[in-house]
Amino acid sequence: MDTSAIILAAGEGTRMKSDKPKVAHELLGRPLVKWVVNAARDAGVERPVCVVGHGREIVQPLVEDSCEIAVQQGRLGTADAVSSAAPQMRGRRGSVLVLSGDCPLITSRTLQALAAAREESNAGVVVLTMQLEDPTGYGRIVRDSTGNLLRIVEQKDCTPEELAQGECNSGFYCFDIELLFDALGKVGSDNAQGEFYLTDVIEIARREGRTVVGLKAEDPVECLGINTRVQLAQATHAMQERINYRHMLAGVTMWDPQSTFIGPDVKIEPDVEILPQTFLMGATSIARDCVLGPNTRLDDCVVGRGCTLDETVGIESRLDGGCTCGPRAYLRPGTHLCEGAKVGTHVEIKKSTIGAGSKVPHLSYIGDTTMGAGVNIGAGSITCNYDGQKKWSTTIGDDTFVGSDTMMVAPVNIGRNAVVGAGSVITEDVPDNALAIARGRQFVKEGYRASESE
Ligand code: UD1
Ligand code: CA
Repeated sequence: MDTSAIILAAGEGTRMKSDKPKVAHELLGRPLVKWVVNAARDAGVERPVCVVGHGREIVQPLVEDSCEIAVQQGRLGTADAVSSAAPQMRGRRGSVLVLSGDCPLITSRTLQALAAAREESNAGVVVLTMQLEDPTGYGRIVRDSTGNLLRIVEQKDCTPEELAQGECNSGFYCFDIELLFDALGKVGSDNAQGEFYLTDVIEIARREGRTVVGLKAEDPVECLGINTRVQLAQATHAMQERINYRHMLAGVTMWDPQSTFIGPDVKIEPDVEILPQTFLMGATSIARDCVLGPNTRLDDCVVGRGCTLDETVGIESRLDGGCTCGPRAYLRPGTHLCEGAKVGTHVEIKKSTIGAGSKVPHLSYIGDTTMGAGVNIGAGSITCNYDGQKKWSTTIGDDTFVGSDTMMVAPVNIGRNAVVGAGSVITEDVPDNALAIARGRQFVKEGYRASESE
């Protein structure tokens, strides 16, 4: 598509009551403005222009990898915001989409329909409109008796008749670029808010004999603008539903889609079953036949086929096929569970490899450890990987059995096929095939107390 796009993201968003600029607030882990940027790119716009201003130091880094940046100096209104993209638009012809950076639910399909509508009619502008039961706060569409779109009037400037009708401006447009920048020079600020309104371009275009088209949005939810945190929650639920339906229709079972939150970049293969209160975020991917949840949260995890994760939190971890975790397992960054490994109840793993078929079933902390295959770690055993200043590593060879409540004081190497007696504090290396016991011997003093039978 040979279409340009300008995304408005310079506003403050006072109604969010936040130190953070509005468009930087996240919806399912992705900043609001980034949703709009992605929709434009998916519609075929290679490099949208993003207008930044308020909180520029926060907003610009979110988009500069995929957008050209224009800077709005003052906060003089939406027409002024578009004008600040004039340098980036110089010399361009054809269509330009103008999009609000605070409307994350917009789809690339609708943007393509907007651009197609302008190209077919050679209109000066196509406005995406929406019919709302409660139009409070939106600009109203004014049509003549035959249905021609005359102008857009902001709520604060409306007559009672204009206020009464429910067709509203969505804030999404496709303009003829030349007409747009020519008309912007003619926009004044004689209105209730003393701002330069982009919406005034519609009336100017008509006066100059250009066609103006109002295209009704099929699904007004796409145009939900985020002005308050209530709307942010509503948009989160709408997006959650959209994403979850997509996965369910692709073969994923969800017991309770309402309590299942899946980020936009997560990949899930068919025949995965997701139990309630599960959160999959970031660049997480789940292979076939896994069962996740209840109460499971994964961030940036790669999970192989047929794993079972019950009440598990995983961050930047990799699980090969057939692993089981939880209930109450915590996999911290750098965890790698090899084929068939088990991490059980109240177990924390950090920056460690757990070899194929190895088991850490109960109440353990394993950090900075390379563990071979077929190892069994007894209940309550931990690696003491931190001496107060530095982290040290532990290695445990294949088929080794570590008895319960063992402290492995790193740096330490335990060989293959070794046995460590329960309750040991291991401070020295254990060779292959050896038995190591490091604990006080049991002392028994008979007759210490008088016998009860006497
Ligand atoms: C705007 C429209 C209104 C429409 C509504 C749909 C105008 C005058 N009004 O109103 O008709 O119904 O969107 O959501 O356009 N922005 C800047 N710089 C500015 C002002 C705003 O970049 O100086 C950006 C904001 O960050 C935001 C977008 O423009 O992304 C819209 O601004 P906002 O103040 O939210 O406009 P609305 O009052 O919602
Ligand atoms: Ca708005």
